[in-house]
Amino acid sequence: MSGLVRLVDIPTHGDSRGLLSVAELGGVLPFIVRRAYWVYGTQTGVARGFHSHKTLSQLCICVKGSVRFVLSDGRSESSVTLDRPDRGLLVCPGLWHEMHDFSGDCVLMVLADAEYDEADYIRDRPGAQDA
Ligand code: TYD
Repeated sequence: MSGLVRLVDIPTHGDSRGLLSVAELGGVLPFIVRRAYWVYGTQTGVARGFHSHKTLSQLCICVKGSVRFVLSDGRSESSVTLDRPDRGLLVCPGLWHEMHDFSGDCVLMVLADAEYDEADYIRDRPGAQDA
């Protein structure tokens, strides 16, 4: 696995009733959550993201279905598919991310350490010249 891909296994409690996964501070969450949002109902063939952040850290959890992330730091690129609700992908500041191949039933939940701020977005893809 590339160093760009920071996956975390989310502690999960299973019993005869089913499963319950927990993301908490001091556990898999490396930050206090100040915002949560989720992406769903994504149309076939649609890709999203295409940015990095100046300061924002996020934990992305595909709680239903699947989605493929493309990650880049300008020097290397990696692809990883999220397809289980007990696994998260950490997206740290400066990491370019794109989301592709959403399944029709995909629900992608994102926990973030700051409120929405358009000024925190970097929309220029890092290129080899930045390496
Ligand atoms: P956008 O940044 O285009 O989503 P993605 O990066 O997944 O392609 O966001 C879509 C719209 O939602 C855009 O108008 C900004 C708005 N938005 C908020 O108001 N708050 C948020 O926390 C997020 C993530 C988006």
